[in-house]
Amino acid sequence: MTSEHIYKFFADYIYKHSGIYYKESDFYRLDSRLNTMMKSLSCATVEDLHKAYTTNVTKDMHSLLINIATNNETYFMRDNKPFLTLVNKVIPEILANNKSLTKLSIWCAGCSTGQEPYSILMSIAHKCTPDVLTKTEITATDISTDALSKAKKATYDGLDVQRGLPAPLLVKYFIKESDEAWRINDTIRSRVTFGEFNLLTDNFPASKYNIIFCRNVLIYQDKDNRKSILEKFYKALVPGGVFFMGSGESVIGLGLDFKQEIIDGTLVYKKPA
Ligand SMILES: C[S@@+](CC[C@H](N)C(=O)[O-])C[C@H]1O[C@@H](n2cnc3c(N)ncnc32)[C@H](O)[C@@H]1O
Repeated sequence: MTSEHIYKFFADYIYKHSGIYYKESDFYRLDSRLNTMMKSLSCATVEDLHKAYTTNVTKDMHSLLINIATNNETYFMRDNKPFLTLVNKVIPEILANNKSLTKLSIWCAGCSTGQEPYSILMSIAHKCTPDVLTKTEITATDISTDALSKAKKATYDGLDVQRGLPAPLLVKYFIKESDEAWRINDTIRSRVTFGEFNLLTDNFPASKYNIIFCRNVLIYQDKDNRKSILEKFYKALVPGGVFFMGSGESVIGLGLDFKQEIIDGTLVYKKPA
């Protein structure tokens, strides 16, 4: 079997189980990743690795492959504007329309190593009245178990906290554990629950969330998967709920029921009340 066939096998496996699409011109990106897997699984050759995945794939082997296939790039306050729109306009509007709301449910889907849900919570803590933070519950999910482990630890190194995070937020919401480790404080951490969730294959809840963030995740999906996942996000929102995508992403041409609105320069998608 040629290495092209082996790359194709792994690309197909990754696509089937995550929707992440490696086209032939991207196969070279699999090369170093397969080498990492060979070391972890003590396989001498790539053919041995292929054999292991065609005979008996354990849960750990499956996670290993999905972990190496994902791009977990993220940073605190990524793109900044959505967080301002969230706290200045979206949350106040939701609360004004639901005077008896006791819980503000937010889903951060494809949360990677946690910077996004923590940025949401720091923005709320910084800009909203304290009762809004106590009402907020974030469910933060990802397919990558490696990314989720780091998110749960809530400990970031110097490089992480220098990317995008304004100094006042670092001082206010982190505890310095050492010169190279800052930990998110418990008030912020206690408002988020992390869990594994595969957007392609897992069952979405119905009418559960006031707000959903899914930014820079669906770019790795093809058009059909993107449409089907977005339809499920629509159903997962309560009426009047709001959906945030990444700055370069859009639902245009997918025939969805979302109403688009630009609020303070941020494009958001609403489920009509
Ligand atoms: C580039 S990161 C974006 C992180 C964050 N949302 C942000 O904008 O900074 C994409 C994340 O989506 C996750 N992901 C990719 N495919 C997924 C799937 N099918 N189900 C759930 N998460 C997925 C990856 O593991 C990765 O952590």
